[in-house]
Amino acid sequence: MTTVFWIMLGGLLFSYAPVLLTFIFEKSQWTIWWYGILLPVFEHWLLNILLFMFVSIFLNVFTIQALSFKRIAERWKTACIRCNLRVPSLDENAPKEIPQVIYSDKDRFRIIAKGLTAAYIDSRRAELSNACGLFIWSVRPAKTDNGQVRPGYIDVFYTKEDILSSVQLSKTRKPNWGELTFGIGIKGYHTIKLTDMIHTGIAGLPGSGKSVQLRSLIVQAMCVHPKAVCIGLDFKSGSEFHIFKGRGNFILCDNFENAALVLNEIYQEYFRRAELVKRNEVENVYQIRGPNGERVNPIFIFGDEMAEVFYPISKLESKETIDAQKLVIDRLSKLARLARFVGVHLILATQRPDAKAIDPQVRSMLKTRIAFKLSQKEDSILWLNRAAALELPDIPGRFLLATDNGVFEQLQGLFVSKQEVKQMLQHVIPGSSQLYRRIMGQLQAGENSALSADGKMSEPGLPGERI
Ligand SMILES: Nc1ncnc2c1ncn2[C@@H]1O[C@H](COP(=O)(O)OP(=O)(O)OP(=O)(O)O)[C@@H](O)[C@H]1O
Ligand SMILES: [Mg+2]
Repeated sequence: MTTVFWIMLGGLLFSYAPVLLTFIFEKSQWTIWWYGILLPVFEHWLLNILLFMFVSIFLNVFTIQALSFKRIAERWKTACIRCNLRVPSLDENAPKEIPQVIYSDKDRFRIIAKGLTAAYIDSRRAELSNACGLFIWSVRPAKTDNGQVRPGYIDVFYTKEDILSSVQLSKTRKPNWGELTFGIGIKGYHTIKLTDMIHTGIAGLPGSGKSVQLRSLIVQAMCVHPKAVCIGLDFKSGSEFHIFKGRGNFILCDNFENAALVLNEIYQEYFRRAELVKRNEVENVYQIRGPNGERVNPIFIFGDEMAEVFYPISKLESKETIDAQKLVIDRLSKLARLARFVGVHLILATQRPDAKAIDPQVRSMLKTRIAFKLSQKEDSILWLNRAAALELPDIPGRFLLATDNGVFEQLQGLFVSKQEVKQMLQHVIPGSSQLYRRIMGQLQAGENSALSADGKMSEPGLPGERI
């Protein structure tokens, strides 16, 4: 706003000055100066004013840009000196250069790398941020407009605020296998290992960013683990997870009947994997390696609007639907309790975390908690053991992360639009998992192996198929 104000003031001064001067010095040599240049092109005084307005706006913008570049370049230089970040040189006695800023805009500046790597600068991000008084949240090799890496240049992304209020998932670094990035905070990206995360719960007011967070985690789960099976429980007519249908190994469950079948299959998979863990004498399934180093892939169960799953359904519904709901709840709570070491991860979102919206047994196993803004103090205390979720700023995608190993941090979720999902998942091969193909086969055949003919739950077996 201040910038716009100065531009307008500058524009006004510059545009009225020539008119005033022309009036005062009408018969002097000034008239020749003003009119000599301008009149051949613009005869009317109004056009003169317009011309000067444009020139002055241009000059103002140019000056502001130049000043901001100078400020950034100076801050960076100070930070490099303080942190002793110099361009490496073979000659020990040669004066050590500072990687220079060659370009800057409002959220990024570009430096000449000269032998320094983006990964090295990234590893010193916290130190550099402190030294230059800017929050450096990412350092990456510079790219051309068509996405090619520009050797010798590094882009440094910064903000003057503590935490960014919008970060796109497509522009962030891909996590390693077995990890998911939950968001970005004051210390940079917050990435969690699946072995530490186990199950995650997401709570927050309408419009706070729960579905976007789920979307972001699903895209990551599919890009980082292309063979992982991802199950989406979305009983709001499947509108949120529909974009993932037919991509990778994503299975959409939009009613109790198909959710019961799918979760029952996963429950059987749990027994198979538990046996594998026992036989290999390891602590969890991720420590197992196949003959060619293959790993056991995670299974993710994502659920949006979980109240739709846990609220008692109307007695007018068919007996099959009522039994299917019972089975869904039973399988979810069993998987939440038992499946922690076999690579099955629940990531469930709800507007309110109370007992009606989410089964207390399932809730107690969601050890990683995300709280977007909440309005009820009791909800925040129930979810985080403190009322902090009420004081979060009104920024969509801003949340508190609390884990059972003591993390408590404010983060901004990584934004991904529905349009970007398609583009980001274009390289993920559909149907690459054997488990996915088996479940899809059953779903398509319309078999309801989850419920036996009398509507009772079938008991899980131990099918011999290897993972
Ligand atoms: N991480 C984010 N960064 C920037 N904007 C976001 C982010 N997350 C959400 N938003 C904005 O907030 C809007 C609402 O988000 P979202 O649909 O995820 O809310 P919700 O919590 O699922 O709401 P509801 O409970 O009504 O389904 C999004 O359309 C988007 O514009
Ligand atoms: Mg939503």
